[in-house]
Amino acid sequence: MSQTIDIPELSRTPITFCAGPQAFFAVEYDPATGEVVMLDQRRLPTEVVYYRYTKPDQVADGIRDMVVRGAPAIGISAAYALVMVARAEEGEAASFLVANGAASRVLNATRPTAVNLAWAIARMSRKAADVAKLDPRARYEAMLAEADAIHREDVESCRAMGKLGAEDVPDGATILTHCNAGALATGGYGTALGVIRAAKEAGKTIRVLADETRPYLQGARLTSWELHVDGIDVEVISDNMAGHFFQKGEIDFVVVGSDRIAANGDVANKIGTYSVAVLAKEHGVPFTVAAPWSTVDMAMPDGSGIPIEERPRDEVAKVGDKVLVADGIGCRHPAFDVTPARYVKAIYTERGAIHPSDGQTPADLDP
Ligand code: MRU
Repeated sequence: MSQTIDIPELSRTPITFCAGPQAFFAVEYDPATGEVVMLDQRRLPTEVVYYRYTKPDQVADGIRDMVVRGAPAIGISAAYALVMVARAEEGEAASFLVANGAASRVLNATRPTAVNLAWAIARMSRKAADVAKLDPRARYEAMLAEADAIHREDVESCRAMGKLGAEDVPDGATILTHCNAGALATGGYGTALGVIRAAKEAGKTIRVLADETRPYLQGARLTSWELHVDGIDVEVISDNMAGHFFQKGEIDFVVVGSDRIAANGDVANKIGTYSVAVLAKEHGVPFTVAAPWSTVDMAMPDGSGIPIEERPRDEVAKVGDKVLVADGIGCRHPAFDVTPARYVKAIYTERGAIHPSDGQTPADLDP
């Protein structure tokens, strides 16, 4: 690819890069300056621009405004925002905990569907309570170590689930994916795209069809870019073409990510995922999901209770600056949908695989 990807210099080695000949990362922390460094995914694929955020509220805005997106990546971003709080807070334990709590509430309110966000904030807040009485420097270092652990563990999980899922990918397969569940959406490597990367690393010949993923176009703008810079064969289709390619027998395997998996195996993911799952079932093609355990919400009995984020009208009414729908006409934008467990052939996690359509549930992997 002719595009050069310039990576901002950090005072430490990034936790991970996207695998492949060209390096990039979605989010990192720079300890020398206390900044959260984030790739603006809204400007991809035409511009590769990184921002350096100096305040937790800027990170919250970045999550809400989709500078960073993808369930694990927003959790990691929130964890680093809480590291910023620890770095700035020099007071006693009580004021540190008040500041941590206030920032946590702001971060938690940014995006409701992806449970990884609340999970990462809760984990950081438990660590804050544990270390609140330490001196400010030690407190900050402990919070940074916890955020780094969340980041590192996410990449390890992606690699583990990728390897597991890759075993089910037939050699020579054409794989359909929806949205972007790649290195851009995680700590690195990706969940669904981790399965695809691992299949390639295992020596399988694979080809990817990426749904464009209206209205935010994560498939067209992000998945195709990410796979292309990694040297993986990819073509983009508009969402309404998927049925045609299933009917023609051109799709052998489907893998997507998830924003929240309920205790019964129902899966919330990017709007349009449910339609893909129904098509896959009709055509006898395995519909599979790759997600870290931090996406599993054992407190949510089934998908009907998962909060579905409603995003602004203009994300549907416009593409970039181009107006598609006249002023005064309403548009709906639920950002996610729920695929019932019976459509899901497999969920790959770092703990192992579950087969919801065969009656297995996440509880089978919960010790
Ligand atoms: O609205 P987005 O772009 O944050 O939605 C992302 C998705 O739906 C991904 O498929 C999901 O978060 C899994 S990412 C590994």
